[in-house]
Amino acid sequence: MFFAISGFVFHFFMLVSSSSASLAVDEPYADHVCARIASSISSSSGVYFPGDALYDKGVFHWANFTTQAAKCVVEPGIPGDVGIILGIVGKTRTRFAVKGGGHAVNPGFSSSTGVQISMSRFSDVVYNPRHQTAEIGAGLIWDDVYAVLEPYGVNVVGGRTSGVGVAGFTLGGGYSWKTNQYGLTIDTVTAFELVKPDGNVVRVTKASDPGLFFGLKGGFNNFGIVTKFTLRTFPQTQVWGGSIATDSQHIAEVMAATAAFSSKVTDPKAAMINQYVYVHPAGQNSLSLFYDGPTPPPGIFDDFLAIPSVAKDVSTRSFLSLIQGFNTQGMPPNIRVTGTATSVLALTPSFLAAVLNQTNYWGAKLAPKSGIIAAVGIQSFLPSIYSHNSDHTAYPPMRSKGFLPLDIAFEWTNEGFDGDFHDAARAMGKALLDAAKCEGQDVEGALMYPNYAIFGTPLEDIYGRHLGKLRNLKAKVDPGNVMGLTGGWRF
Ligand SMILES: Cc1cc2nc3c(=O)[nH]c(=O)nc-3n(C[C@H](O)[C@H](O)[C@H](O)COP(=O)(O)OP(=O)(O)OC[C@H]3O[C@@H](n4cnc5c(N)ncnc54)[C@H](O)[C@@H]3O)c2cc1C
Ligand SMILES: *[C@@H]1O[C@H](CO)[C@@H](O)[C@H](O)[C@H]1NC(C)=O
Ligand SMILES: *[C@@H]1O[C@H](CO)[C@@H](O)[C@H](O)[C@H]1NC(C)=O
Repeated sequence: MFFAISGFVFHFFMLVSSSSASLAVDEPYADHVCARIASSISSSSGVYFPGDALYDKGVFHWANFTTQAAKCVVEPGIPGDVGIILGIVGKTRTRFAVKGGGHAVNPGFSSSTGVQISMSRFSDVVYNPRHQTAEIGAGLIWDDVYAVLEPYGVNVVGGRTSGVGVAGFTLGGGYSWKTNQYGLTIDTVTAFELVKPDGNVVRVTKASDPGLFFGLKGGFNNFGIVTKFTLRTFPQTQVWGGSIATDSQHIAEVMAATAAFSSKVTDPKAAMINQYVYVHPAGQNSLSLFYDGPTPPPGIFDDFLAIPSVAKDVSTRSFLSLIQGFNTQGMPPNIRVTGTATSVLALTPSFLAAVLNQTNYWGAKLAPKSGIIAAVGIQSFLPSIYSHNSDHTAYPPMRSKGFLPLDIAFEWTNEGFDGDFHDAARAMGKALLDAAKCEGQDVEGALMYPNYAIFGTPLEDIYGRHLGKLRNLKAKVDPGNVMGLTGGWRF
C-alpha cells in the first residue's frame, strides 16, 4: 500500500524491478582537495572515504538515485572548520555539496562527485524559555527537534513527516502543520548562524544584516552555509490526527470532502492533505489529518471520517508520534522520483476534477514506461498564511494572495525514461495552473515553492520580483562565486 504526504508518496512495502543509476563523473583534483581539507580542519571535524560507514552515511539521500559518489565526505563540527572547507574548495574550484536531511530530489542539489559536506555534527537543540526560542543545529531532522522540545511543552513550526531535514526545509520556506497559525517556518526564524563564502562566521538577524536576513529566508545555499537556526517556540499540547487510506471506490467522496473542508473550515488549528495517487489502472487517496489540540471540535473532519477506509491511524497523540506515524523512511533504493510545484487560490470541485483528470492521464500514459505512481498532494491552508510576517522574505515573493502549494510527484524505475517523467511533471504543473485560470481564479503572480519545484524551473517563477534583489545580494556576499560550485537554485 501507499502512504503519502506533502511531497512524495511513501511505500510501506513494494517489489519492483531494479535499474541502476550512474551520475558519477570524474573530478580530477578532488582527491588532493580531500587530503588538504583533512590536514587543515580541527579535531572537531572528520573526513571519510569510500568504504567507511560514515562515508555511506554522509552521501546518503532519501531518494537513492540522487546519491552521488563523492571523493570524500566532510563532517565539519564547528563553524570555523566550515569556513576552512569553503576556503579550500573555493580556491581549488572544486565542486561540492551541502547536505542537511538529504531530502532534495532534484539531482545534485545536495550531492556531488566532488566534496560532500554533511552537516550532521551540528545537532544541538537548545531551548531558551526566557526568549521563547530554540537554537537548532543545521544537521538535524525535525523528529529530533520535536523530541527535545516535547518535555518543555513547546514546539516549533517545522516538518510534517518523519525524516525531513531542518536546513533545506527552513531555507526554502517550510509549510508546516502549524502554518495556519504562525506562517511558514522562515517566518519564525529570528537568527541564522552563517558561514559566509569568505569563511567569516556571522550571526544574521533582522537588525544585524536585513539584506542577508531577507535573502536566507528562501535563498538556500546561495549566501554560504548555515550552521544554526534560531526559531520562535510556541506552546504545544497533545494533538489529534494521523492518516487514512481510501480506495478507488471512494475518490468522489474524498474530493467532495476536501473541497468542503477547504471552503468552510476556518479554525487555524485544523489542517489536512489529500494526496491523490494514481497506481495504474486506478486511483486512491491518502489523507493526512491534523488538529493542534487533543480533540477537534465536532464537524471539522466528520466528512473524512465517515468515508470507508482501507487503513486508518488517527488518534490523540504527541506531536512527535503524529509525525513519526507519517513514516517516510522506506523509499526503496531503486525508485526514481521527480516532483514539481504549482499553486492556486482555491480547491474547488472543478479544480479537483482537473487534478483527477491530469493525474489519471499522466499516470496511465507513463505506466508502460516503468511508471509506478503519479500523485498530487492537495494541501488545504487558510488564505491568511502569508499574513504572519510583515517583513519581506526571499520566498514568497508575494504575500497579498493566499496561494496554496500543490506538489506533483512521479515515481518510476527505469532511468532511460527520466526525461518523460520530468516533462510530464512540468506539463502537469502548467495544466493545473491553467485549469485554475480557466475557472476564473486570479492566479496572476502564482509562485512555485522552491522546495517542490523541479530543476530547471526559471527562477522568475519562484522568486518573482525579488530575483533582482537576490542576485545583487549574492554578488555582494559571494563575489568569488564559491557557492556557484554547489548545486541548487543559483542566483
Ligand atoms: C518525504 C518528504 C516530505 C516533505 N514534506 C514537506 C512539508 O511538509 N513541507 C514542506 O515545506 N516541504 C516538504 N518537503 C520538501 C522539503 O522541504 C525539501 O526537500 C527540503 O529541501 C529538505 O531539506 P533537507 O535538509 O532534508 O534537504 P537537503 O537535500 O539536505 O538540502 C536541500 C537544499 O538545501 C541546501 N542546504 C542544506 N543544508 C544547508 C545548510 N546548512 N546551509 C545552506 N544550504 C543548505 C542544500 O545544499 C540543498 O540545495 C518534503 C520532502 C520530502 C522528500
Ligand atoms: C543507490 O545509489 C548508489 C550511488 O549512486 C548506486 O551505486 C546504487 O546502485 C543505488 N542502488 C540502487 C538499488 O539503485
Ligand atoms: C484531461 O487532460 C487531458 C491531458 O492534459 C486533456 O487533453 C483533456 O482536455 C482533459 N480533460 C478534461 C475534462 O479536463
